[in-house]
Amino acid sequence: MPFPQNFLDELTARSDIVDVVGSYVQLTRRGANYFGLCPFHSEKTGSFSVSPDKQIYYCFGCKRGGGVINFIMEEESLPFPDAVRFLARRAGLEVPEETGDREAEQKRRRLLDLNRDAARFYYQQLQEPEGRAMRDYLDRRQIGQATAVRFGLGASVDRWDALITAMTRQGYTKSELLGAGLAVQNKNGGIYDKFRNRLMFPVINVRGDVVAFGGRVLDHAEPKYMNSSETPVYSKRRELYALNLAKKSKRPNIILCEGNIDVVTLHQAGFDNAVASMGTALTQEQTRLLSRYTKEIVLCYDNDNAGKIATERALQILNNSEFTVRVLRLPNKRMEDGSMGKQDADDFIKVFGPDAFERLLTGSENGVEFRLAQISGKYDLTDDRQRLAYAEEVSALLAGLESPVERDIYTVRAAEAAKLTPEAMKLEVQRAFKRRMGKERRARERRDLNPAAELQPKGRDLRYTNLRSAMAEEGILRLLLLDDSLFPETPPLQEKEFSSPLLGRVFSLLWRQREQRSAPKLSFLAGELSGEEMSHITNLCQKPESAANGRQALADYIAIVRREAEKRAGAGTADPLLAKMEELKDQKKSDGGKRHV
Ligand code: GTP
Ligand code: MN
Repeated sequence: MPFPQNFLDELTARSDIVDVVGSYVQLTRRGANYFGLCPFHSEKTGSFSVSPDKQIYYCFGCKRGGGVINFIMEEESLPFPDAVRFLARRAGLEVPEETGDREAEQKRRRLLDLNRDAARFYYQQLQEPEGRAMRDYLDRRQIGQATAVRFGLGASVDRWDALITAMTRQGYTKSELLGAGLAVQNKNGGIYDKFRNRLMFPVINVRGDVVAFGGRVLDHAEPKYMNSSETPVYSKRRELYALNLAKKSKRPNIILCEGNIDVVTLHQAGFDNAVASMGTALTQEQTRLLSRYTKEIVLCYDNDNAGKIATERALQILNNSEFTVRVLRLPNKRMEDGSMGKQDADDFIKVFGPDAFERLLTGSENGVEFRLAQISGKYDLTDDRQRLAYAEEVSALLAGLESPVERDIYTVRAAEAAKLTPEAMKLEVQRAFKRRMGKERRARERRDLNPAAELQPKGRDLRYTNLRSAMAEEGILRLLLLDDSLFPETPPLQEKEFSSPLLGRVFSLLWRQREQRSAPKLSFLAGELSGEEMSHITNLCQKPESAANGRQALADYIAIVRREAEKRAGAGTADPLLAKMEELKDQKKSDGGKRHV
């Protein structure tokens, strides 16, 4: 463990979870716990709980949970040691020297320095004679000098080692260049520049660090874009291109578009609230990031098929979120041969100008309107049979809306579009609504009838192989966290007697804390467990457990675990085949029925 136990002890004691979480989430007290809107997934009703007694948080919606350190790791996207430093600063505590993490932190810092120096180099190259092709390209795309500077655009020239040579001269090593994804290794072990002959877009995070690059070709070659690979300082799921600029915008919303060029053009036209996700569909992590800066998102993807699919996927992610979501639909472009073709925000601005875009922005539809238009576009509403099919598809969509008022408004609108009476349309929606409720009820019943499936952890790697033993193992952990004085001086079980490797490992870790004379706490495990493991352990701590009958309960749990362990061991020595069959039987018992649903 990199930080001494007594330091972590003091840190968690001085970082009350209700205070810390309360500075990010509005919490209301209900009984012994606090509740609020989960910061980790989008929701309208609060399923996020904080327990001051256990000093843990847990969301019943997305099933994420942990201690105060985990919360900061999640919320601030920080690795364990950084989250500890963050909390220490907050609590006014000095962090003891830690050598191991110093090293990791220095590496990160060095990676960021390299990225920044590379960005500077690309930027300078754009002014050099060799950067001529990229300057011409900027002219062709009507991107002005001031805009190029604001975005730090650059040029990777048409050579194999321009960047490598410059960066080596500044003291960076081969392996650092490879680690940053700026150089690529060939079969003979030599390295060459990853980005060549491209217009370079540095990706800058909200803290102002250059974390990655996107490089666009100057012609129609493939691939059109090359983007940095994932590194310790860059995860494409967690970043949005130009959010470093858009976060300062005075506009009331953030526009999400597809391409880097769209973003640059929009900013140049006065829409300094545009961002793009680089070659991925919108992710949950990105919406969390956005929620720090805005309450309203405008989707402005290209109007081709891929763009429509991306819009639909983004709407699904944002469904029932606290964001107001609107969809800006770009009109089709009339091609030279008279057909209608793809258009993106960049094309639109160039042809119709910023004022026309402003009008589109003001008039943009909300998500339901967008989906309704998508559906009505599929049918010929002058044909009776198609009107029927339309009504059916639309009512399925409307039945999915949670708010009755919304359902009502759009039902009337959908009826108008197909020249049906509102009453008929309402009946159709009601029928679809009943079907949906029935379906949800049946799903609930299935779950209730099959408790074993519910008891299983969600993650595949965490699956219990012996449910009976695992339930007792969970109980032991709960008691250890609730009141460790119930336990004898020496460990009542060995780690290998646990049927679940994770629960066994947690038992050992908590026991080690106890031996170091601090009360076992979940928050201390933040550095040892993955987020998924931590959430699972937090979840099992939610189940009721009383310290009142603790001594008896503990003895019962231990007996079960021991008996099951002996069964496994006994079967193992007697006959390996029998043991395997025992194991299979247990497995069947624990996920029995599940295959039949
Ligand atoms: P143009 O409008 O054609 O000038 O380009 P654009 O900047 O608007 O980008 P486009 O809409 O074509 O692409 C959207 C995003 O997808 C880009 O910003 C890239 O991050 C990503 N992307 C596009 N093409 C590729 C590709 O060939 N490979 C990879 N990895 N990503 C790509
Ligand atoms: Mn584009």
